[in-house]
Amino acid sequence: MQIVVITGGTDGLGRGLALHYLRQGARVVAIGSTPAKGESLLAEAAALPAGGHATFLRADLTSVAATEQLLTTLENTCPVVDKLVLCAQRYRLFGPRKVTDEGFEHSFALAYLSRFLLSHGLRDRLEAAQRPVVMNVGTPGVPLGRIHWDDLQLTRRYGGTKATLQSFRANDLLGVAFAALHPDTSIRYVGYHPGVVATDMPNHLPAPLRALTKATFTVFATPVPKAVAPMVRLLDEPPRERFTAYQKKRQLPCTAKAFDQEAALRLHRVTEGLLRGWSA
Ligand SMILES: NC(=O)c1ccc[n+]([C@@H]2O[C@H](COP(=O)([O-])OP(=O)(O)OC[C@H]3O[C@@H](n4cnc5c(N)ncnc54)[C@H](OP(=O)(O)O)[C@@H]3O)[C@@H](O)[C@H]2O)c1
Repeated sequence: MQIVVITGGTDGLGRGLALHYLRQGARVVAIGSTPAKGESLLAEAAALPAGGHATFLRADLTSVAATEQLLTTLENTCPVVDKLVLCAQRYRLFGPRKVTDEGFEHSFALAYLSRFLLSHGLRDRLEAAQRPVVMNVGTPGVPLGRIHWDDLQLTRRYGGTKATLQSFRANDLLGVAFAALHPDTSIRYVGYHPGVVATDMPNHLPAPLRALTKATFTVFATPVPKAVAPMVRLLDEPPRERFTAYQKKRQLPCTAKAFDQEAALRLHRVTEGLLRGWSA
């Protein structure tokens, strides 16, 4: 039985993928921070005929300690991981800078650090699978935002959009570095942009933007079941290259500045340093 681990697997695209793989008879481990969402997924899974098996693990992925605890749980309960899908995200486009108890800026912690820890931390479990794949869901290749090398935690001139965009660009580099650091790995790392998808995401935006985004979603957004179809194709038939980036079905050229290997390795080293500093 395949094992599929999905962060943000209780809502939106992650939940769509979770239900797809449960219908296929896979074992799915869905991670989220809200128990009610986990229980709702388990209830829907229990009614499926395919015999797949769902597990919900509650973890607040803004926390390095919680992510490391989650890694230990996954290592103890999953002999292999066939697919790791990274979807957990909560946009904070407005409002003051929010810092986690461990001193990291919120978007950096949730959308980048947790993905860094899980991608590298589950490498052994992934390499034990037959065709392992990591899918990091974001906006690869979009030429917006940058890495603020001199102030990664955005302590000066903070902006929510700036922080969100930095986390996207950091994930582009995470995939590039992962492939560069492990030239012999069997893992295929895919950066994936799903386009605009009708998920619950607008409900977490402030009121005026929420209404506008919801109205836009009504007209332009792809429904979740349709949006997960090309994701499933990539997850089931991973590309030959160690790192690739896709926007829906279209493979993106990885020559762009967003995928610069030198910058990717630099960010990897800096991130390791930050994590060492945290645990010290
Ligand atoms: N929807 C789009 O149009 C779109 C477009 C481009 C890219 N994307 C990317 O696609 C991915 C999925 O987006 P989505 O629209 O499906 O999101 P969503 O519907 O808002 O779902 C987000 C998921 O992340 C989980 N999550 C949020 N904060 C968490 C935390 N602190 N710890 C653990 N889990 C947490 C949520 O569970 P809890 O609420 O229980 O924590 C939920 O399961 C994201 O990376 C997003 O950037 C989406």
